[in-house]
Amino acid sequence: MDSTNTRAKLIGGGNVMEDAVVVAKNQTAGRGRRGRNWISPEGNCYFSIMMKPNIQVENASTITLVAALALTQTIENVTGLKAQIKWPNDVVVDGKKVSGILTESSVGVDGLKYVVIGVGVNVNQKQFDTEIESMATSISLQTGNAVDCAHVIGEFLNCFENSFEIFLETEDMTALIDRYNSLLVNLNREVRVIDQGERVGTALGINEKGQLLVRYMDGNVESVISGEVSVRGLYGYV
Ligand code: BTN
Repeated sequence: MDSTNTRAKLIGGGNVMEDAVVVAKNQTAGRGRRGRNWISPEGNCYFSIMMKPNIQVENASTITLVAALALTQTIENVTGLKAQIKWPNDVVVDGKKVSGILTESSVGVDGLKYVVIGVGVNVNQKQFDTEIESMATSISLQTGNAVDCAHVIGEFLNCFENSFEIFLETEDMTALIDRYNSLLVNLNREVRVIDQGERVGTALGINEKGQLLVRYMDGNVESVISGEVSVRGLYGYV
């Protein structure tokens, strides 16, 4: 199909009240964050969850961190690989991105209409374009084996449901901060915070809103809001 996120948004815009999961074997117009394409050949996993949670609009974007947490757990459970999170929601193995999440939401006059969480997992891909090959990996490159996407998606739905219920208690990361920070590949590392300009600081972990706390050279600690800036390692992707 074109994009599981695009299809899930069409379902969300209709009158259905139930949640939905859209799964594709490949995508002809896969979308990534910041308007990028997500090249989607057959052999990887592509899926999107559409749901209509009863939460405040301003808390919807935090769900993307909950999804990253669930995906890290999923990859560990299914493959045995140690997966980590590059804030806010890239899942990395061995310092390279193995999976990306694109969360999109729709807001109406009565508040949040729906949220779509789109997940792409590099499962069977052996080669990546030259501009991303130093930053990207796949499960089969890491383990020598491919995995079944149905298994990945089933495990993700279980892990996500558990974490999402915890998130719903406060509609933020309060009860998930410790788990999230323990998986954060950026923790206590120097990062480049890229906005209009570029500043270097040390990542201290997330706060309850899911913002990344960064201590800059002058000692000031500021929170970085996901979606507004990009955070990179000092010498590369992480
Ligand atoms: C990123 O830029 O890291 C996010 C990539 C998200 C890709 C997934 S694949 C399934 C879903 N459908 C899309 O069009 N995008 C997401």
